[in-house]
Amino acid sequence: MTDPSDDIILKACGITKVYPGTLALNRVDFNVYRGKVNVLVGENGAGKSTLTKILAGVEVPTRGHLELEGKQVRIESFHDATRHGIGMIHQELNLFGNMNVAENIFIARELTKGRVHIDHRTQTAKAQELLDRLEAEIDAREQVADLRIGQQQMVEIAKALALNTRILIMDEPTSALSAAEVDVLFRVIQDLKRQGVTIIYISHRLEELIQIGDHITVLRDGNLMQEAPMIEIDVSWIISQMVGTDKNREMTHTTSATCEEILRVKNLSLARTGGGYTLDQLNFCLCKGEILGIYGLMGAGRSELFECLMGLETEIEGKVFLDGKEVTRGRVDDHIREGLSLIPEDRQREGLVQVLDVSDNMTLSSLWKFIKWIHIKSTPLKQAVDQMVRNLSIKVPSPRVIISSLSGGNQQKVVIGKALLTEPKVLLMDEPTRGIDVGAKGDVFGIMNDLAAKGLGIIFVTSELKEIMMVSDRIMVMSNGKITGEFTKETATEEGIVAASAVGHNHTHASA
Ligand SMILES: Nc1ncnc2c1ncn2[C@@H]1O[C@H](COP(=O)(O)OP(=O)(O)OP(=O)(O)O)[C@@H](O)[C@H]1O
Ligand SMILES: [Mg+2]
Repeated sequence: MTDPSDDIILKACGITKVYPGTLALNRVDFNVYRGKVNVLVGENGAGKSTLTKILAGVEVPTRGHLELEGKQVRIESFHDATRHGIGMIHQELNLFGNMNVAENIFIARELTKGRVHIDHRTQTAKAQELLDRLEAEIDAREQVADLRIGQQQMVEIAKALALNTRILIMDEPTSALSAAEVDVLFRVIQDLKRQGVTIIYISHRLEELIQIGDHITVLRDGNLMQEAPMIEIDVSWIISQMVGTDKNREMTHTTSATCEEILRVKNLSLARTGGGYTLDQLNFCLCKGEILGIYGLMGAGRSELFECLMGLETEIEGKVFLDGKEVTRGRVDDHIREGLSLIPEDRQREGLVQVLDVSDNMTLSSLWKFIKWIHIKSTPLKQAVDQMVRNLSIKVPSPRVIISSLSGGNQQKVVIGKALLTEPKVLLMDEPTRGIDVGAKGDVFGIMNDLAAKGLGIIFVTSELKEIMMVSDRIMVMSNGKITGEFTKETATEEGIVAASAVGHNHTHASA
């Protein structure tokens, strides 16, 4: 082979990044290979987002420098990065809910006609073209706030493609996407590669990394561990580099399900604005100690089901019984007190208050438990928070640091802790393992098992087939707002689940 350094388009040299109280990166060298998919992997808090933010000019390193095409460059702002053809899709979505999709896609460089006017028509058409290329069924004129999170992720991807970047950084682009959407994204990535675009790709889905990546770099606790061509390594190599040992233990789930009913849903429907039903006559029950997994494609109604159960949607038909009593309609607080708790899908928007610290965020929904007369019992509260931080291995210098300084995955864990502190009878988890690393995934599954053993009923939604098959006692499949399949642990097969999730799928728009 010729000198491999020719193939390096971008190089991070000896990058150190210090945040108050945290050494996020410690003299890290990172080689980005031209026209390849360069995968970056590591546990929650390892420094992946920080490193890529430095490449994209969002953060400035404390020490170290960058070389582009062998020459030292300064990339200290979004504009520097754009000028050098470097674009980034952030882990936390950066969209404006009150603007439409096309406006968001072209926010950085609105298309102008003549001098001043934004040419809305061209902009909309271009945006639609990009969305269609992503096979995303999204109208460019729609308000972003009306889109589900998976769709918003597609808009983020379209936004990055619109900038004609030659080095595209994707920080967990698939975390909110279902298997079919991931396939489309991977086709787009192959396409971009053919056009000579270099990709930097971060994900916690290890099989996915092996499938899409050409080259892998592993970070551990802010240090560079190893880099290797993807063909030379496998999943257990990645895990041992990430965490030191091969923690990829097979998860075994022993059922704790009883036949004592805790939740019953009767003829639950939710009308869709503009006709049709988002949820269509759902009937099911859940037992104490049972883990019920719900699988479905984007738009199947999974998240809406949770929203109805929590009282976030009020215009529902049908009835919900918790522990034999009909659940009061209306306020979410009441639902929490009655014993329902939700870990929402969109944690940035619904789960966390960015200006509060870890402890305050975690106790937000359970504060009433710690109040006696008008005093907050601070010792039990502190103990509860400390224990949760330990149980979920949340990487944080102290529970008193502001939530926004945590890595993405660690923020997710705080939201999980928050729901658990309410001590619910039924726990609803919407994509609970989204964005968290393999080790922590095991912890979350372990916690789900423990909670079930204590008699909690758990309903969880995931778009990962392997996960749902591993953790659930029973699996319900949804499509177009209906239940289209139900499997026990014994009858569940990947093919069966996928087939049920596609029932009626081609007729979505015709029938709606
Ligand atoms: N703005 C900030 N202020 C203080 N500390 C920060 C800040 N941003 C990140 N950190 C810390 O730097 C470390 C690395 O964080 P980073 O977000 O890069 O992790 P990551 O590898 O992307 O993790 P994840 O998989 O959870 O997204 C973490 O300990 C995090 O708490
Ligand atoms: Mg991150």
